[in-house]
Amino acid sequence: MGKILVTGGAGFIGSHTCVEFLESGYPVIVLDNLSNSKQESIRRIEEITKKPIDFYLADMRDENAVRKIFTEQEIDSVVHFAGLKAVGESVEKPLEYYENNINGTFVLLKIMREFGCKKFVFSSSATVYGMNNPVPYVEDMPTSATNPYGYTKVMIEQILRDFCAADPDFRAVALRYFNPIGAHKSGLIGEDPNGIPNNLLPYIGQVAVGKLEKISVFGDDYPTPDGTGVRDYIHVVDLAKGHVCALEYADQHKGFTPINLGTGHGVSVLEMIHAYEKACGHALPYQITSRRAGDIASSYADASLAKQLLNWEAHETLETMCADSWNFMQKNPNGL
Ligand code: NAD
Ligand code: UFG
Repeated sequence: MGKILVTGGAGFIGSHTCVEFLESGYPVIVLDNLSNSKQESIRRIEEITKKPIDFYLADMRDENAVRKIFTEQEIDSVVHFAGLKAVGESVEKPLEYYENNINGTFVLLKIMREFGCKKFVFSSSATVYGMNNPVPYVEDMPTSATNPYGYTKVMIEQILRDFCAADPDFRAVALRYFNPIGAHKSGLIGEDPNGIPNNLLPYIGQVAVGKLEKISVFGDDYPTPDGTGVRDYIHVVDLAKGHVCALEYADQHKGFTPINLGTGHGVSVLEMIHAYEKACGHALPYQITSRRAGDIASSYADASLAKQLLNWEAHETLETMCADSWNFMQKNPNGL
């Protein structure tokens, strides 16, 4: 059997997906430059699955390094997570974001073409629905972005669409993730951001373990049931399983297919804080502050296409998402 090259496989979503691929019997190779992760996560994937991973410490923009992997290994498909992902930082450093995310994808596609490798699964994002579409988001809505990070996702989807049109045998699935949270049940892998977290869940987790003082709730005057922002939080293990289904779909279907991976259900910031309080067993201090620039009121998926095409749907509950996140935080208060 050919192997799956997982770019960014040491990161949060990539590491969980490697576990699911290995447990489904697919051998994986990981390429990661460890710019936002640690090699320890590779060791822990091996510990969970009891299976080995060939790890390449390399940058995806390094054409020779990527060619070397394709020369040494029989690569059947590429699952592409590697990229920079902090929205605020992308506004400060647009060139770094375009350079890393777009050029990295160019190099992968170019080397895939060179070696006749035709299967690609890409980490897209619900951010491609922009500011103007009504919820729930459906895959055929127009895409747009409000920041350089979001534009890299919109642009890469377009590149994949064009690449598939030029090679009728190529297949690319763009998985539009909603808000991945939680951690593997073992507590061995999870989200381990550098510095102060930007996203809600790792922030709540660090307040829960006492590393941060209190949560700032960014606005309570949105047109939502309790006034705080609503998002479609999805357990990272559910999300990871969606990649196994997507790769099997790509095996059978040519062309470009964008698919939402979400639960189809929205949860507010206050609901999330209270769910986490139940998981960790104590109150979490929070204060209402002003809105964060660029945030929208509400984002959740129409999850029916994933069910229809991939026979995939999310199974984990808000309770298990919080419990698994808390388990990881307790076992790894200082990260991996
Ligand atoms: P992450 O930062 O944990 O993982 C990304 C990995 O890519 C890291 O291990 C990093 O070291 C690696 N990387 C970055 N640039 C690289 C390069 N040039 N060469 C090699 N490796 C490189 O992030 P994540 O949360 O696991 O996200 C994975 C993907 O999913 C990203 O593309 C992200 O944009 C997308 N996504 C994430 C979310 C989210 O909320 N976490 C939501 C939607 C989409
Ligand atoms: N929030 C707070 N306080 C915080 C952090 C967030 O109140 O400290 C609120 C936000 O205003 C929002 C919700 O919590 O209402 C979720 O915010 P996150 O930053 O966790 O997630 P976003 O939905 O803003 O963005 C995430 C990823 C993006 C991705 C997007 C869609 O960070 O990369 O989901 O997939 F594009």
